[in-house]
Amino acid sequence: MSLDFKDYIASVPDFPEPGVIFRDISPLMADGKAYAAATDAIVQYAQDKGVEMIAGPEARGFIVGCPVAYKLGVGFAPARKKGKLPRETVSASYGLEYGESTLYLHKDAIKPGQRVLVCDDLLATGGTIAATIELVERLGGIVVGTAFIVELTDLHGRDKIKGYDILALTEYA
Ligand code: PRP
Ligand code: ADE
Repeated sequence: MSLDFKDYIASVPDFPEPGVIFRDISPLMADGKAYAAATDAIVQYAQDKGVEMIAGPEARGFIVGCPVAYKLGVGFAPARKKGKLPRETVSASYGLEYGESTLYLHKDAIKPGQRVLVCDDLLATGGTIAATIELVERLGGIVVGTAFIVELTDLHGRDKIKGYDILALTEYA
């Protein structure tokens, strides 16, 4: 019997600030079967799209994307926050549900023409995923899909990445 991913996501009101309901994937990560099932669902999606490389934003994008990359036998490109990458980078700034940030990719993180899946734990306003897509594309990658454990539908993040395919394992209004 397939499991319901929502049973493994904790909803925490007023974190990290009043009015935000934080959707916490750490219970899913803590359960080996649930973490594997979520990973396998994304792996299946990636295989169907002929993915050659995974990219994901710091920090929770690593938790989702790295096991997918390992299982597919492909590489992982970390999109990191300021001051973390030691070599030449490209950068993109974006707004968040709470705050603002900039993401960076090493210039050689993606090979031109590579078919890339961008993974993150959660799609909210879409700023993070749009910035990560922009970085991958500036390096010549082809973004063939995006994958999330959670989509917050009321924040309309998918409107920021119109034209890109989206796999969301759960949805919350
Ligand atoms: C969270 C989450 C997504 C992003 C979604 O990351 O993990 O990456 O926000 O929001 P958006 O769709 O509005 O851009 P956060 O920046 O809090 O960083 P973290 O993963 O390091 O906690
Ligand atoms: N990132 C942005 N919004 C979030 C939320 N509501 N829950 C968890 N992570 C988030």
